[in-house]
Amino acid sequence: MQTFKISTEVCFGGDALEALGRIRAENAVIFTDGFMAKSGGADRVAAYMKQCKTIHVFSKTQPDPPVEMVAEALRFLLDVQVDAVVALGGGSAIDAAKATVLIARQQTGREIPLIAVPTTSGTGSEVTSFAVITDREKGVKYPLVSDSLLPEVAILSAELVKSVPPAITADTGFDVITHALEAYISTGANDYSDALAEKSLELAFAYLPRAYRDGGDMEAREKMHTASCLAGMAFNAVSLGVNHGIAHTIGANFHIPHGRANAMVLGEVMAFNAGIEDGHVSLATEKLANIARRIGLDVFSAKGGAAALVRKIRQMQRELGIPASLTACGVTEEAYQKALPHMIESAKNDACTATNPRPVTDEDIKRILSRVK
Ligand SMILES: NC(=O)c1ccc[n+]([C@@H]2O[C@H](COP(=O)([O-])OP(=O)(O)OC[C@H]3O[C@@H](n4cnc5c(N)ncnc54)[C@H](O)[C@@H]3O)[C@@H](O)[C@H]2O)c1
Ligand SMILES: [Fe+2]
Repeated sequence: MQTFKISTEVCFGGDALEALGRIRAENAVIFTDGFMAKSGGADRVAAYMKQCKTIHVFSKTQPDPPVEMVAEALRFLLDVQVDAVVALGGGSAIDAAKATVLIARQQTGREIPLIAVPTTSGTGSEVTSFAVITDREKGVKYPLVSDSLLPEVAILSAELVKSVPPAITADTGFDVITHALEAYISTGANDYSDALAEKSLELAFAYLPRAYRDGGDMEAREKMHTASCLAGMAFNAVSLGVNHGIAHTIGANFHIPHGRANAMVLGEVMAFNAGIEDGHVSLATEKLANIARRIGLDVFSAKGGAAALVRKIRQMQRELGIPASLTACGVTEEAYQKALPHMIESAKNDACTATNPRPVTDEDIKRILSRVK
């Protein structure tokens, strides 16, 4: 038996932030990053939280939240005797809030509802039972997985994404595409997750270039916010693949933003999964060709269609200014060689790699990495 569950309530549309008015708390915490605190995002959200007596702001979350930051945030939540948390920010702020609230619930025995308000269209973290925490010393990103990490409510307000600059729009948008593609061809994929992934990909391929070119294009911003959430629902149900396994280790070793790391290897990984170079044609090849068809590319065979999709991904990478190589991101040959054995091991053992449609060897990971060196 398989099951499919979406437990987070998703509020969307022009007045979605009104849902914050439902939160009743003595001590609510807005959990965010420095940018959102300084740019007025936290104040804007606080203004909707009319039934909260005191609103505290924790604004020290950092990209790729490190273990030490979670410990600091936990002390903050316990000190103010938190009874509700609003996570406001990109995947980093939301993941940090998810992990911290989980521990605070365990330590206090209180329920502490978590409401996620994403300000990037990328991770889908607002609807997933994942939180990625980084051990900087060991150079490892740990995807924590538990249904207890699921936010009770996700509030999608595209207005909050308007200020995302083009480079971050591109990085996070490629995270969406990677989530949807990996979920679509995951070994766990089913008709329910496929429906979510297909819609997500149709939206992302159509609207990401528009959101990148004009951040004020609200139709594009809204569609990308939806695409991100749909992809989150899809991969939450059926997990991801080796693309994320490799991106996690690239991010942890070289501090390259998560979406960019995904984007850099996406063409290589999908070409590998589709068996484009070695003729390993499989269900993944057919499914990737199906996506090519759905986004309007000419498809005459499974392999040809998958190859057209890979070309489209590479073309979009160039158009959206994604660096083509680790070298272009400032990684030296010495640093690459030093990290390589650990990266291969880490990508192979990453929880996401387990559901990759094609079994992956050390040599495969090494080759994929060498092509983006
Ligand atoms: N939990 C999950 O399911 C899941 C899935 C994929 C990735 N992740 C993790 O999420 C993290 C990445 O999240 P992300 O890609 O959303 O980036 P992020 O949260 O790290 O944010 C990137 C940058 O964008 C800025 N930013 C955020 N919103 C903005 C806005 N509205 N205007 C201007 N700037 C803004 C932030 O301040 C930050 O500097 C990584 O740690 C990744 O591993 C989690
Ligand atoms: Fe991701």
